[in-house]
Amino acid sequence: MTTLGTPLSPKATRVMLLGSGELGKEVLIALQRLGVETIAVDRYEHAPGQQVAHHARTITMSDPAQLKALVEAERPHLVVPEIEAIATPMLQELEAAGTVTVIPTARAARLTMDREGIRRLAAETLGLPTSPYKFCDSQQELQSAIDAGIGYPCIVKPVMSSSGKGQSKIDGPADVQKAWDYAMAGGRVSHGRVIVEGFIDFDYEITQLTVRAKDANGETGTHFCDPIGHVQVSGDYVESWQPMAMHASAIEKSRQIAKAVTDNLGGLGLFGVELFVKGEQVWFSEVSPRPHDTGLVTLCTQHQSEFELHARAILGLPVDTSLRNPGASAVIYGGVDAEGIVFDGVDEALRVPGSDLRLFGKPESFVKRRMGVALARATDTDTARANAKLAVSKVKPRKA
Ligand SMILES: Nc1ncnc2c1ncn2[C@@H]1O[C@H](COP(=O)(O)OP(=O)(O)OP(=O)(O)O)[C@@H](O)[C@H]1O
Ligand SMILES: [Mg+2]
Repeated sequence: MTTLGTPLSPKATRVMLLGSGELGKEVLIALQRLGVETIAVDRYEHAPGQQVAHHARTITMSDPAQLKALVEAERPHLVVPEIEAIATPMLQELEAAGTVTVIPTARAARLTMDREGIRRLAAETLGLPTSPYKFCDSQQELQSAIDAGIGYPCIVKPVMSSSGKGQSKIDGPADVQKAWDYAMAGGRVSHGRVIVEGFIDFDYEITQLTVRAKDANGETGTHFCDPIGHVQVSGDYVESWQPMAMHASAIEKSRQIAKAVTDNLGGLGLFGVELFVKGEQVWFSEVSPRPHDTGLVTLCTQHQSEFELHARAILGLPVDTSLRNPGASAVIYGGVDAEGIVFDGVDEALRVPGSDLRLFGKPESFVKRRMGVALARATDTDTARANAKLAVSKVKPRKA
């Protein structure tokens, strides 16, 4: 039996989000609706999730001492990482000491913050199909890895990075130096290690949202959402839709891969498993042990969005992953570097049939910063994609 408390009372159920961006904000809203007391942590003030939580805390989450001090002061029932750049070894220590429960597990947070941890687990321990890959610590090693079998074209990524930062494609020997320099500048911690991956010439890529939730017997079951198709530009998502039409055997393989990875990572919660598909062939790419940006589309397609699914699963509650209707999402970029921007044309955007908007409320805009998302539901994903993009075209961010 699951018992929830009253927020701001001694029996409150308290959840701390580590990272309070647009994805954390939606998780926090879902938790708020269940009367959970929420603590939104981020590295800067007035982060989107901090605007909807009971408590806002601003710390450097990659600093183990600051993280430990905050968790020990707040003593939340659950700690929910929303970003990768966290002092995850400290989370492992706190979890091992019984101080806190980390979602889904501290080990999952640690393995997935580093491309090496999760890639070696998937390919070497679990034997899942992935692109050919090699880890390198210098430009010379990178060149040798390419020459020794990775070949051209290939993709270089810092081992610690997300949203395509520091990532580039190498088409021939002339690109190697530039890709190495770009990776060194774009990594989260500049310890100079990269992964080089053989380029997979996929037909399309999907996110397989997968939920580990408790069933009526108290056992953990695995639930799958319909596949989400998406388009990435320079490693950053610009558009997604659900359901993605797929060959039945590709769906089956995707779910087998997703189950193998999430079984190993364990715990409760939602995972975004990224997969490449060509015909009936499926490759594992990476996994987020938390809601996925491409899954923003589920706000307009599922009975329970990925954020509600995550909130329910981590609290030990049952989930329903069923699709309600087809839909799509498209990203609204800031387009300007400025603080406190305004958005013209919101009314025009919302006049697009079946549309909806999320404006994240980020205090500062950058040209390529994701500031919002347009959603559109429709009877088919082609119409939904067209309408989501139409809605985006109506929203005009500008300096105030
Ligand atoms: N080996 C590959 N072959 C072909 N395309 C690739 C390969 N690796 C990455 N990509 C493309 O680049 C995108 C981003 O790569 P990846 O997911 O590894 O980076 P990321 O920085 O973690 O991005 P995000 O945080 O947005 O998920 C992929 O979704 C895919 O479109
Ligand atoms: Mg990715």
